[in-house]
Amino acid sequence: MSDWRPGQPLKIETERFIARSLTADDVNEDYVSWWNDPEIQQGFGNPPRGFTLESARQHVAKFNNKNNFHLGIFLKSTGKLIGFYAITVDHRQKVSKANLCIGDKSLWSKGTATEIAIAAMKIRFEEMGVEKIEGEIRGDNRASMAIYDKLGFKKEGTLRKQGIGPGGKRIDIHLYGLLKREWQERYGS
Ligand SMILES: CC(C)(COP(=O)(O)OP(=O)(O)OC[C@H]1O[C@@H](n2cnc3c(N)ncnc32)[C@H](O)[C@@H]1OP(=O)(O)O)[C@@H](O)C(=O)NCCC(=O)NCCS
Repeated sequence: MSDWRPGQPLKIETERFIARSLTADDVNEDYVSWWNDPEIQQGFGNPPRGFTLESARQHVAKFNNKNNFHLGIFLKSTGKLIGFYAITVDHRQKVSKANLCIGDKSLWSKGTATEIAIAAMKIRFEEMGVEKIEGEIRGDNRASMAIYDKLGFKKEGTLRKQGIGPGGKRIDIHLYGLLKREWQERYGS
C-alpha cells in the first residue's frame, strides 16, 4: 500500500526506481530535451514539441494529483531523473490512461518501462478503484506494443489513419485494454 490521498503527491517504488509527482523544481535540461527529441516524440506520434525550461515547468504545474499525475522517474542508485509517467484517472468511469517516457535511452530494452508500468498499474487497480486501464499507441511503436502484450493487455482495435504524425503523415491509433479481473488473474491480487 502507498500512503497516497487525493491531491497529495503520489510515490511509487520499484526495485530500481522511484516514480513520484514531479515539481517545477525537478524540471531540468534532461527533462526538457525529451520533449524536443524527435525519436522520443515519434514514440508518442508527435513531432518535437519546442519546450523550454519555462514551458516545461508550466506543464508540470498543471497536474493535480487527483485525476491527473505527472510522475518523474528517478534511478534509486543515483537519484537521477530518467523519465516521466503521465497518468490520468477518470474516477467516475473508473478508467485510467497513461503516457510513459524513458528519456534516458541507455535504459531502453532493459525492462525499465515494464517495471514501472506494473507498479503504476497495481496502485491504480488496488488503491484508486480503477476497473480498466486503456492503452493508446499513436503510430507504429513496436516497443510499446511489445510492452502491452507482455503486460497482458488485449488489443481492442485500430483507428485507421486517425491522426497526424511527425512530418504530417497520417498514422493509425492502436487501442489496448486491461480489465481489473484480468489483472487479478495474471498478478494474483
Ligand atoms: C517505449 C518505451 C517506453 C519503452 O521503454 P523500455 O524501458 O525500453 O521498455 P522495456 O524494456 O520494459 O520493454 C520494451 C520491449 O519492447 C521490445 N522492443 C523494443 N524495440 C522493439 C522493436 N522495434 N520491435 C519489437 N519489439 C521491440 C523490447 O525487446 C522489450 O520487450 P522484451 O522485454 O520482451 O524483450 C521507451 O522506448 C520510450 O520512452 N520511448 C519514447 C516514448 C514512447 O514511445 N513512449 C510510449 C508511448 S505509447
